[in-house]
Amino acid sequence: MPLLSSPIGVFDSGVGGLSVLRALRAALPHENFVYLADSANAPYGERGDAYVSARTHAITQYLCEQHHIKALVVACNTATAAAIHEVRSSHPALPLVGLEPAIKPALAVTQTGRVGVIGTRGTLTSSKFGKLLASLEGQAEFVVQPCDGLAHAIERSVNLPETALGTPGDLAGVGSAVAGTETGALCARYLQAMGAFGTAPGQIDTLVLGCTHYIFVAHELRALVGPKVQLIETGEPVARQTRRLLEAAGLLRERAAAQVAGEDGDGGAQEAFTATPEIRLLTTGPVAMLQAGALRWLGLPADCCASVSVP
Ligand code: DGL
Repeated sequence: MPLLSSPIGVFDSGVGGLSVLRALRAALPHENFVYLADSANAPYGERGDAYVSARTHAITQYLCEQHHIKALVVACNTATAAAIHEVRSSHPALPLVGLEPAIKPALAVTQTGRVGVIGTRGTLTSSKFGKLLASLEGQAEFVVQPCDGLAHAIERSVNLPETALGTPGDLAGVGSAVAGTETGALCARYLQAMGAFGTAPGQIDTLVLGCTHYIFVAHELRALVGPKVQLIETGEPVARQTRRLLEAAGLLRERAAAQVAGEDGDGGAQEAFTATPEIRLLTTGPVAMLQAGALRWLGLPADCCASVSVP
């Protein structure tokens, strides 16, 4: 039975979901989190549904059994597209939040009626995304561009030398560290293929980031599309949805630990609360890469990170 102090599980193919974890921590500052990066098996985007679905099941099982998570955020559009329905039916009691490209919110923003969507091939060719697009038919023109290799290049860019790093926690500043690199070249190639960006009639004035890794190249994307194009990502809405689900399940830990000592999720015995929420970052890949991402993007120390095996 989950407790208020049980962690919220967050999972991605790699470091991309750290962008979602950042939004979750801001919205839910008293919660404990366990993040799992499946970096040994990243990228998911070009792997195919069966593989991604099997990994998503294995990781969900691992987080439930080993970490007793009280909710799961699948901070990966590709895994959500491939497996969220199955995870929902295999874990019906687990509050579950998935991610999908925010094309609906983009409708409220676009003035030109042309909306760009970038994501992995897995996400953008999925039947889930196809249905979402079809449900909005006629409301805008969507220019959809799979960006093969971009998430993988972003994973590799985490290991850039310290001197090239942006301010820890400053997501938008991170892109400047990799300008002129492989990530910059890929962004340029894919955006050029989509046509003209801007606010004039016929131009794409809104760009949906349909992969959690892409916010880490927001600076390059911004440089390429110009200052007026809106970049839309999903971290904050996902954090709000997670909060709503926890509240509905009576599992929201909304006050500082010391103030809630004595309460727990199922009205049972007291728990030993720690004063500071615990953030554990786990990876199936090289721990140094996760440590670099944690410091660079969340300002978290290396000892939050560990490597694990999830067969
Ligand atoms: N970050 C993931 C997403 O949101 C996938 C990246 C990948 O592994 O290809 O889709």
